[in-house]
Amino acid sequence: MEKKAELYAGKAKSVYATDEDDKLILRFRNDTSAFDGEKMEQLERKGMVNNKFNAFIMRKLEEAGVETHQIELLSDEESLVKKLDMIPIECVVRNIATGSIVRRLGVEDGMDLDPPTFEFFLKNDELHDPMVNDYHIRTFGWASEEEVAAMKELTFKVNGILKQLFLDAGMLLVDYKLEFGRYQGRIVLGDEFTPDGCRLWDKDTRNKLDKDRFRQGLGGVVEAYEEVAHRLGVPLE
Ligand code: ATP
Ligand code: TYD
Repeated sequence: MEKKAELYAGKAKSVYATDEDDKLILRFRNDTSAFDGEKMEQLERKGMVNNKFNAFIMRKLEEAGVETHQIELLSDEESLVKKLDMIPIECVVRNIATGSIVRRLGVEDGMDLDPPTFEFFLKNDELHDPMVNDYHIRTFGWASEEEVAAMKELTFKVNGILKQLFLDAGMLLVDYKLEFGRYQGRIVLGDEFTPDGCRLWDKDTRNKLDKDRFRQGLGGVVEAYEEVAHRLGVPLE
């Protein structure tokens, strides 16, 4: 597999073309950003940890019947993936209230959400990723009704799989964000599932083991990601 030109450099990953039209290389960088890129830092080892963590989670999801873009790990920081036509929408499921839902709705931080709740956000940094609904997505042509239904169903299916996986390793899956794309007429999970895009709390102490450590300046960010990986049995070396 030959790596070709860089097609896009996002805030945390770079995307490269390959010699096969339907495949891309994703490089997970050490760059860490929060608040729409206002806070930026390089965190040693984060790219490697996230790349390997993501490959592990994507494999678990595939095994449970969720199609993902992941093909294979290529190196410490790079993975080969299916090239998706990305839908510019972020799908968020919340099992526990924290973060923006608490700021928006004034609900109690840390309350259990039964049933878990679901939100769509538009991927647009300039507009600070505004929340949108099913109607906006269809009216403005970001995705069809069938695609909206598929994204919702798959995001909840992922919740059923991962909530248990993390619980078995002593962690609460608080919330997470997924991105999907089109591939050969199917809706496929793309982007990443790592502690950069979800919240994980220790089951007993409720200590934060995710990017909130960076957002809130708590320190020990990559150490927490490594702890999560270790508890799940993700091979990092
Ligand atoms: P954000 O941090 O808000 O997700 P970004 O663009 O800064 O945005 P990065 O993760 O740094 O995010 O960049 C990766 C880019 O690659 C994203 O735009 C993502 O939608 C895109 N992407 C992820 N997986 C695929 C894929 N399989 N095919 C095509 N594009 C992909
Ligand atoms: P949310 O509470 O809406 O935002 P904030 O981080 O500003 O408090 O985020 C819910 C979850 O989804 C959280 O785990 C972070 C993740 N997420 C992203 O990774 N990127 C995004 O653009 C959004 C909207 C959420």
